[in-house]
Amino acid sequence: MRRLIAANWKMNKTVSETEDYIKKFLKFVEHPESREILICPPFTSLYVASKLLQGSGVKLGAQNCFYKDSGAYTGEISIPMLKELGCEYVIVGHSERRHIFGENDELINKKVVACVEKGIRPILCVGEKKEEREAGLTFKVVETQIRLALSGVEEHTDKIDIAYEPVWAIGTGIPATPEDAVEVHTFIRNLLNELNPKNQRKTRILYGGSVKPENAAEFMKHEAINGLLVGTASLDPESFAKIVYSF
Ligand code: PGA
Repeated sequence: MRRLIAANWKMNKTVSETEDYIKKFLKFVEHPESREILICPPFTSLYVASKLLQGSGVKLGAQNCFYKDSGAYTGEISIPMLKELGCEYVIVGHSERRHIFGENDELINKKVVACVEKGIRPILCVGEKKEEREAGLTFKVVETQIRLALSGVEEHTDKIDIAYEPVWAIGTGIPATPEDAVEVHTFIRNLLNELNPKNQRKTRILYGGSVKPENAAEFMKHEAINGLLVGTASLDPESFAKIVYSF
């Protein structure tokens, strides 16, 4: 499986800043076929990003979607809209969507199902809060989030990637240790094998949470870690390129 290194810009960069970033980033890109590189800008930057990334081998993704194709859903963006812009991926159930915007497992499941049906690859984010880890609930929380999110699409886990992002590690500068990440990744892999024995190893399990150029290689040297989802450190093209080529 090709490993996936994804940039999640969150609510950062205007159109002109996006242009500037991508022109700089593409100068660092070599052998794009050796790993999958993905950039997820805000919706407003997708069009320009898609034009600039054409032919570069770098993939484009969105940070969220709604599960209906069209209709009276003010403020929402549908999967056909994203696909026409060239998005191949969409981040679903990011912890900021869950905890700031109140997305629950039921809504996240509807989005995952819609992604699978409509042919865009979801990166399903899961992860425990600090108090849940301290209470020894990490595996339980992650298992519940995955079972609910994948409900009805267990047969199609080959069309889905998962990002394990402990909430306490996101944007804090304090990552999980690679050993802690490997423990959870192995747990998720076993769960996926149970849910879909036919499609073993086709779902990539990414780690996310305070990944930086200085620690990326430490994560990527573990076989259980099939990629990275990078927030803060992806906002600078050189820093993101260092992470992409850290292994
Ligand atoms: P971070 O964010 O790299 O800034 O911790 C990761 C994420 O939220 O995907």
